[in-house]
Amino acid sequence: MSPTMKLNPNVIDLEYAVRGPIPQRAAEMAREGVRTIPCNIGNPQALGQKPLTFFRQVLSLVEEPDRVRRERALHALRAENPAALAGHDLVPADAIDYAAEILDKLPTGTGAYTESNGPRFVREAVARFIDARDDVATTGAPASDPDAIFLTNGASEAVRHGLDLLIGDKRDGIMIPIPQYPLYSATIHKLGGTQVDYYLSEEDDWAMTREAMETSLAGAQAKGIDVKAIVVINPGNPTGSILPDESIREVIDFAEKHSLVIMADEVYQENLYGDATFTSFARVLGNRDVTLLSFHSTSKGFYGECGKRGGYVEVRNPPKVEGSDVGFIDILLKLASVNLCSNVVGHLMTYLMVNRPKEGDESHALFTSERDAIIEALETKANRIREAFAQMDGMECYGRTGAMYLFPRIGKLPAGTGDFDYCMALLEKTGLCTVNGSGFGQVDGTHHLRIAFLPPTDLLEEVLPRWIEFHNRYVNG
Ligand SMILES: Cc1ncc(COP(=O)(O)O)c(C=O)c1O
Repeated sequence: MSPTMKLNPNVIDLEYAVRGPIPQRAAEMAREGVRTIPCNIGNPQALGQKPLTFFRQVLSLVEEPDRVRRERALHALRAENPAALAGHDLVPADAIDYAAEILDKLPTGTGAYTESNGPRFVREAVARFIDARDDVATTGAPASDPDAIFLTNGASEAVRHGLDLLIGDKRDGIMIPIPQYPLYSATIHKLGGTQVDYYLSEEDDWAMTREAMETSLAGAQAKGIDVKAIVVINPGNPTGSILPDESIREVIDFAEKHSLVIMADEVYQENLYGDATFTSFARVLGNRDVTLLSFHSTSKGFYGECGKRGGYVEVRNPPKVEGSDVGFIDILLKLASVNLCSNVVGHLMTYLMVNRPKEGDESHALFTSERDAIIEALETKANRIREAFAQMDGMECYGRTGAMYLFPRIGKLPAGTGDFDYCMALLEKTGLCTVNGSGFGQVDGTHHLRIAFLPPTDLLEEVLPRWIEFHNRYVNG
């Protein structure tokens, strides 16, 4: 008989729908040889998206430093004799230069621990990226500080670090949007804190309102909760919504009034379609004295390098620990050092994300054409799925297309069933793996699903008619 043991109930009770029972069933079906389409998660390369050529050329040279010399020798050979190596594509000279520069700054390569917060040259590049993105030269906002940037294993670890510092016990509350990305609910639960929900307004394209924030805060305070922070996901997951600048200002006003930390999850800042633009919290914050943690990742955007686990958190206006002279950054550094360092390939992917080929560089044209093709294809696929919703009884999709997801409301379901049943049946009948809205939180009595609009176009075209047919049959009993 197996021994029994009392395990941490906070971990036992964790829920993480994005990898929950529906994806688990999909994995089982795949093992049985059934073809499934994993739209449960924003994992572009799992659905055939090609890595950006430049990123991988540089990375592979850094992984194998001897190749830098060899590739240079090949260029020299061709310069001497243009007919040499005919028919062979050489690695572009700028990729070789990038790799050589990285190796110069990181002579220990990818196999050695780095600083706990990540190599300084990468943090400096992130700071330059933030300053250029937010146009600090003209706005007069404070420049980003490389010592307030922590490189992490994806944004997930950065978020966990933030929550680790803020949550001590169940009286500590964190406001999160509903619907939300379940990293937040799961981590708050694991740390034994209190999740304080504020609801986004679906009919207003998932806008966040001051009233909803104030109501949620007052409700939590009335129960004795010490609310420490407000999480904002912009562009939104699962909603795809993009906050207008006025809403960002409203959140900052709210956080200032109530002395809250803002946790701005901005991992989808480059998943913009049509005329959409992104404004960061740091930009709107400017010189105001509100603590801001902003998160970014190599997993999303058009790069979609989820497996490389690159990400960072930037801290603005770090507070001092109550009753002491110790700073937030010192504690964060201590926390990061417990892990020794995050993975070095992730650091380098972050470096490339923020320091890409510039106009005039040999690789610039290919880089931009790959980027544009990925973003255009994502938008086209999202539009195709939206068109399919129009043929599904009672399916309504609010919000603009952003991030990598659509989050339609399933307005009609057979009595006694919920969105979990719907998504499970959809998987069984079509192989399409989505996530039920209840996995993200939603207004009681409403039903949704989240689909990542990532499958290759031909697969999508094949599955959409089957989904429409399934839907209309299922909801009409
Ligand atoms: C809103 C949001 N934040 C954070 C993450 C975590 O990303 P990663 O840890 O891969 O950087 C995700 C992943 O899907 C996400 O959707």
